[in-house]
Amino acid sequence: MITRGVGDLTLSTKFMTACNLIIITKELNENPAWWYEKGVEVIIANTRRTSKETVDPSVKSGNYLNNVMAYNEAVETGAFDAIMLNQKGDITEGTTSNIWMIKDSCFYTPPLKSGLLGGITRMKIIDILKKEGLEFKETTISETDFKNCDEAFLSASTKRIVPIIKIDDIKISNSLPGENTKKLSKLYYKLINESIT
Ligand SMILES: Cc1ncc(COP(=O)(O)O)c(C=O)c1O
Repeated sequence: MITRGVGDLTLSTKFMTACNLIIITKELNENPAWWYEKGVEVIIANTRRTSKETVDPSVKSGNYLNNVMAYNEAVETGAFDAIMLNQKGDITEGTTSNIWMIKDSCFYTPPLKSGLLGGITRMKIIDILKKEGLEFKETTISETDFKNCDEAFLSASTKRIVPIIKIDDIKISNSLPGENTKKLSKLYYKLINESIT
């Protein structure tokens, strides 16, 4: 974390000390196997993602109040995560993950201009899809498009690729992780293992 420094209780940064750099480390435990084997349920949050004109969502800042509120909505309904819309009502991302859907074997993810954080895993998945010649479109996704998809999953460095089997009350891919999602996961793990060894 990079803070704006130490100073008076004021919004002004004029008389602050230099920025503080804080590094927190934590052991990364294995995620529960059921996330990947059974898939997870998500909701569409009422809380919207901040727009580029407010707290730019492409910046990984600690200013996550909207995401915290959206995540609380998910927790209240027993869902794994909440998917946040932008001010136009289009899909942006999960509260700490990027979002993907598959329709007719084509992979879709919203573009950065929809207002989201361009995650590292998202970038790696795009590389894999291009390398493997799999059909892929980075395009605006409406809530209706999303709920009509064949498969969906979310991506993040600490979560990997997590299949989604329900969006609000809509069941996705017969309530099981989809075949295209599984295929991509295999390619993703192969890439990670190659990078480690
Ligand atoms: C809002 C948001 N979007 C997407 C991601 C996924 O990014 P990455 O793949 O770099 O972990 C994160 C990760 O924390 C996030 O907080």
